[in-house]
Amino acid sequence: NSTNTLADICKMADARTREMKRILVVGLACLDIINTVDRYPREDEDTRALSQRWQKGGNAANTAVVLTQTLDTSCELLCSLNTGIEGQYVKEDLQKRGVLIENCPVNKNCGFPTSCVLINSVCGSRTIIHARNNLPELELTDFDKLDLSLYSWIHFEGRRNVDEIIKMIKKVRDFGREQKLQIKISVEFEKKRPEFEPLFKVEADVIFIGKDFAQFSGFTTPEETVNGLSTQVHSTSVLICPWGERGAVARGCDKEICSSPAYPPERVVDTLGAGDTFIAGVIFCLNRGRLIKDAIQFGCQLAGKKCGIQGFDGLK
Ligand code: ADP
Ligand code: FRU
Repeated sequence: NSTNTLADICKMADARTREMKRILVVGLACLDIINTVDRYPREDEDTRALSQRWQKGGNAANTAVVLTQTLDTSCELLCSLNTGIEGQYVKEDLQKRGVLIENCPVNKNCGFPTSCVLINSVCGSRTIIHARNNLPELELTDFDKLDLSLYSWIHFEGRRNVDEIIKMIKKVRDFGREQKLQIKISVEFEKKRPEFEPLFKVEADVIFIGKDFAQFSGFTTPEETVNGLSTQVHSTSVLICPWGERGAVARGCDKEICSSPAYPPERVVDTLGAGDTFIAGVIFCLNRGRLIKDAIQFGCQLAGKKCGIQGFDGLK
C-alpha cells in the first residue's frame, strides 16, 4: 500500500528479491569524468575543480547498479565493453558492485563512450558532453546468447540501434508466448530522435519518457506528455514521465493518471543519474507486482535521495 516508507520498501528488498528471477537491463555503459565545481564557468575560462573523479556511467549501467547495489536485486547488464583502459575500468566497477555482466561483448580496436561532466555543487546541476567514440552498438547476435528463461523483466534503453532493439523485443515476446512465461518489457526514451518512431509501437509493458524527449516533442508538463503520447504507443503500454523537481506522472492502460511529487533532499548536490535511479526504483516495485502509483512514488523518493549525495554509493 502507498503508506510504505522508503525504508520499509528497502527492507522488503532484502528478503524476497533474491529468490526472484533476474532483471536484465540493455543499453549503454560509459565512463563519466566528473568535475565538481562551485559555480558554472565562463566560456574560455581557466578554472579549478573542487574535485575530479572517474565514475561508471550510462543510463543502463546506472540503473543496473541501483537495482543491484541499493535494492539487492539480481540484475544483469547487457552493454558493449572494450579492451581499453576505460572499458576495463567500467567492467571492474560493475563487477565490484555485483552487476552480472557475463554476456557483454568486449570489442577490440575501438574507443569507449565517455562523458565529461560538470556538476555544480551549489545547485546539483549536471552539464554533460558525451562522445560515443565508435564503440559498436549491441546487435541481436549479442542478445541471442542470453537464456531468456532467467529473466522476469527486461528493460531497454532506446538507442540508435533501433532495428536491433525491435528484433530483441520481438524475440522476448515470441519466447514468452511459446514458453508461457510472463517477461515484462520496459523501454526508455530519453532524447527525441526521428529513428525512434518504430520503437514507440513495440509491445512494451512500460514506456519511460524523459523530460528532454517530452519538451522536444512540444509538451510542457508530464501530464500533457503521457496524455499526448498515449495514442502513439501500443494500447497495453503504461506511460511514465519523470520531470525533475516536478516529480513524475504515469498513465495506465486503463487511461487513469497518477502522479507523485518530487522528494527533494535537504541540499541538492548531484543530479547526475537521477532519472536512471528513478527508473530502477519503478522497475523494482512493478517487478514485485506493486501498483503504478506506489512505484512512481518510490522512484521519486529514491531519486530524490540520490540528488542529495555524490554518486550512487550512499544510496542504500
Ligand atoms: P534526468 O536525470 O533523466 O534528467 P529528471 O531530472 O527528470 O531525470 O529526474 C528524475 C527524477 O529524479 C524526478 O522524477 C525526481 O523524482 C528526481 N529529481 C530530479 N531532480 C530533482 C531535484 N532537484 N529535487 C528532487 N528530486 C529530483
Ligand atoms: C546520466 C548518464 C551519464 C552519462 C550520460 C549519457 O543519466 O547516463 O552517466 O554520461 O547520461 O547520456
